[in-house]
Amino acid sequence: MKKENISQNNHDWYKPMSFYQIWVRSFCDGNGDGIGDLYGVYDKLEYIKSLGVDGIWFSPIYPSPNADFGYDISDYKDIHPDFGDLDQFKRVLNKAHSLGLKIIMDLVINHTSDEHPWFIESRKGKDNPYSDYYIWRDKPNNWKSLFEGEAWEYDPIRGQYYLHIFAKKQPDLNMDNPKVRQEVKDIMRFWLDMGVDGFREDVINFISKKEGLPDGLSFLPAATGMSHYKDGPHIHEYLSEFRKVCNEYDCFQLGEGPMTTVNSAMKYLTGKTKSLDMMFSFDHMMADCLYTEYLHRPFSLIKLKKAFTKWQNALNGKAWNALYLENHDHPRIISRYGSEYFWRESGTMLAASYIFQQGTPFIYQGQEIGMTNIKLMSIDQYMDVSSITNYHTYHLKEDPERRLHRIHLSSRDSARTPMQWNATDNAGFSKVKPWFYINPNYKRVNVAKEEPDSLSILNFYRKCLSLRKSSETLIYGQYTEHFPKDKNIYMYERSLDDESYLVICSFSRFPVKAHKPPKFSGCHGELVLCNYPDMKTDPHAGIVGNIHLGLNEQELKKGYLRPYETRVYRYIRRR
Ligand code: GLC
Ligand code: CA
Repeated sequence: MKKENISQNNHDWYKPMSFYQIWVRSFCDGNGDGIGDLYGVYDKLEYIKSLGVDGIWFSPIYPSPNADFGYDISDYKDIHPDFGDLDQFKRVLNKAHSLGLKIIMDLVINHTSDEHPWFIESRKGKDNPYSDYYIWRDKPNNWKSLFEGEAWEYDPIRGQYYLHIFAKKQPDLNMDNPKVRQEVKDIMRFWLDMGVDGFREDVINFISKKEGLPDGLSFLPAATGMSHYKDGPHIHEYLSEFRKVCNEYDCFQLGEGPMTTVNSAMKYLTGKTKSLDMMFSFDHMMADCLYTEYLHRPFSLIKLKKAFTKWQNALNGKAWNALYLENHDHPRIISRYGSEYFWRESGTMLAASYIFQQGTPFIYQGQEIGMTNIKLMSIDQYMDVSSITNYHTYHLKEDPERRLHRIHLSSRDSARTPMQWNATDNAGFSKVKPWFYINPNYKRVNVAKEEPDSLSILNFYRKCLSLRKSSETLIYGQYTEHFPKDKNIYMYERSLDDESYLVICSFSRFPVKAHKPPKFSGCHGELVLCNYPDMKTDPHAGIVGNIHLGLNEQELKKGYLRPYETRVYRYIRRR
C-alpha cells in the first residue's frame, strides 16, 4: 500500500489503537466483597494505560441475574449493583478519558434476561403492549439452543413457547418488531450521550430470523436452526438503522460474528450494507477444535495460519480486522496454542503472532501476564452454563475423568478466574475469598512479579504495542505470509513503501530452522524485537528452564530458532 492512501482511506481513529477487554467480575475487587467492580477498575486505570492500549471494552456491566454472567440483561440503562452504580461508571469514564482511553460498551440485543420487565410483561398475554417483543409460538420447531437443549421453552403463564438460542433465561428479542428496534436505538443513545465511544455488539449476526422459522438441519446438533438465524433476511436493514444512530456520534461499532464466513463478513464491513467497522471472527479459534472448544482436536498450526491469512488477505484495503486470541468465551491461549511448559516463551511468541497483523488488537485481562487454564476437580465447581451443558450432553459413554479433561481443555471459566495481581492472599484480587476459584499458579504468574522483569510476558506485550504504534507500516502496511506450508513456523511480513517488517514465530517446542524469504536474500534486517535474551551477552540465552537447547551463536546465525522463539526484523529496501 502506498503512503498517500493512508490519510485518504484510513483516517478512522480506531485503526492505530489497541484495546483491553475487562470482564469486571474477575478484574479487581475495590470494595471488599469478593466480586470485581468499577471501584477496582477505577484504581487500575493507570495500569491499563501503562500497557500502551488506547481503550477498554467492558463485557456487560448492567443489572443481570447472571444466568450467563451479564449477557442476560435485566436493565440496559443501569449498572449491576455488584459493580457500583451509574455515578461510579461516570467516574471511570471521565478518568479513562482524561488518561486518553476510549470506552466501548457491550450491546447485547439478540436477547434479554427473562427477568427483564419487557419479558415479564410479554409473558402476561397476547394483548399486552410487550406481547410481540419476543418470539412466541404455539408449537416449537426443531431448533436447538447453543447452550441448553431445545431452543424453545414452554411458559405456563402465557401458555406458549418462547425462543431462546442461548440459555433458557435468555429469551430472543423479536427484532422484526419496530418497537424493539426503537428500544435498541434508545439504549445506544443513552450510553453515547453519556460519552461512551462505541459498542461491541454481541452475536450481532443472529438478530434477524427467517420468516416462518422453518425447521433446520445441522451436522452439529446444537447448531440446528443456525442457517435460519445467522445472517438472516433483514440483518442489514436493521443494522443500517443502528448505524444511523452511531453516525450522529463519533463512535465505532464492532460486531461479534460467531461462525461468520469472510464473505458474509464483507457485507457488514464494506459497500452499501456497511454497518460495522470491524468484526470479531472465529475461524482462527478453531485451530484446535471444531466449532466449539468442547469438540477438541490436536492443535494445527496450518489451520491457524490459513485462518489468519484468509481474513488478512480478504480485508486488506477494503475493511479492517479486529485481532484477538483471548476473550471471556475461550480458554487461555497459552494452554491451547502454546505450551504451559514453555510458558514465558510461548506467551510472548503468541503476542507477536497476532499484534503485528493488520487490524486493531484486543487484549483480554490476564492475557498480558500469561494466565493459563484452571483445572477444577469436579464439574460441580464450574459455573459457566455452556460448560455444564456440554459435560452432561456429549461423550456420555466416556468415563467421568475423560469428560472432565474435556472441560479443562474447553471451559470458558478458564478465562474467568480472578485476575492475578500479586502473590499475596487471593492473588491481590480481593481482601476476602473471591466469588470464583483463583488459579493455583498465581504465585508464579502475577503482575507484581512480572513488572520488574524485562523479559516477562507483561513487558513483552508493552514492547509489542509500542512498536506497533510507532510504525505506520505495522499499522497500515500490506500483509504477506511466507512459507504457508511450514508446520512449525508462522512468518508474515508487513510492508509499506520501502519498509518491511518480518515477523517470525516458532510454534515448536524444539529448535527449528527458519528460512529467509527469497525477496530478502542479501538484505540485512535489523532485529527490533525478540522474546529471548541475546546469545552474545547472556550466558543463559540457550537455556529454557533446565533444558540446554544445545544451540550456539553460530547456529542462531544460521537461522535456528529456539522453542517458541519470535523475532521481528525491520528491512529498508534500497531503491
Ligand atoms: C456472546 C458472548 C457470550 C455470550 C453469548 C450470548 O457470544 O460473548 O459470552 O454467552 O454471546 O449472549
Ligand atoms: Ca466488589
